Amino acid sequence: MSTNSATAVACPNIAFIKYWGNRDEELRLPANGSISMNLGDLSTRTSVMIDPAFSSDQLHLDGQAADPVSQRRAATFLDAVRSIAGEHLCARIESTNNFPTGAGVASSASAYAALALAASTAFGLNLSERELSRLARLGSGSACRSIPSGFSEWLVGTGDEDSYAVSIAPHDYWDLVDCVAIISQSHKLVGSTEGHRLAVSSLLQNARVADAPRRLTLCREAILNRDFSALAEVAELDSNLMHAVMVTSNPRLVYYEPATVLIMKFVAEWRHYGLPVFYTIDAGPNVHVITLTDHSKHVQALLASLPGVEKVLSSIPGGAAHLV
Ligand code: PMV
Repeated sequence: MSTNSATAVACPNIAFIKYWGNRDEELRLPANGSISMNLGDLSTRTSVMIDPAFSSDQLHLDGQAADPVSQRRAATFLDAVRSIAGEHLCARIESTNNFPTGAGVASSASAYAALALAASTAFGLNLSERELSRLARLGSGSACRSIPSGFSEWLVGTGDEDSYAVSIAPHDYWDLVDCVAIISQSHKLVGSTEGHRLAVSSLLQNARVADAPRRLTLCREAILNRDFSALAEVAELDSNLMHAVMVTSNPRLVYYEPATVLIMKFVAEWRHYGLPVFYTIDAGPNVHVITLTDHSKHVQALLASLPGVEKVLSSIPGGAAHLV
């Protein structure tokens, strides 16, 4: 193979039913299925260039050489692509986010979804959506949900072959808006790779996982029926269950900051007074406050006025990962 290149764009996603814990860490086979919404206003753009002159893989993030841990993770991912393609050449990856890195919005989902598409294309593969989703899953579990469009469900599956995400509704199906309250971080957080490993050490994890099929059904139906209060109820419960597992694991993981809890309380109060809002929180202190288009400016202003909120990002549902 001579030189070859491809560029792809993918969105991050926010899970309403969360993935926490793997039953197979290497293959990133999840303990439970999950459901998410792509965030269309946020994106990662990744180019992969293959050249026989390269002697090693290189990863550049926002124009800078990435740290050694990220370099190794990307090279391991490229090994998976090379093994499918029957290739051995090294590649240069250039990736940029249109949202501030370090703002605390997890970018591994959009990063590995865009990389799966760009790298597989550059190595001459023409993968189906299902194959791409399985491939992205190997880089970061939640990345498999950023391959299909709109609202996706990651099927728990029985193994590598059947654990991938499918779209359950297109991005324009429902005019939800994610208002992300960015909270200042005072300490370094434990990343999700380490966090997934700790999930089994909580005695609540089995109960959370056992009840997941019920919550997945409620969430899928709420999306298909555009039933905001049903989605609010199941998504807040699911976020609370995941954080209950986190704070009871050994060592414990406390991602909430005081401002996180303040927003959780305000969101419940705003909803009580008739505003369509609910919260969901990932492995960090930021709060994703979901509302409908008509209320999004109001919700953003309310969030921005709270102490401890550094800024508020917002996004409508996003489409599938695609080549550019
Ligand atoms: O894909 P990872 O390994 O970054 O894990 C994502 C974990 C959560 O964001 C906390 C939940 C989820 O389902 O996105």
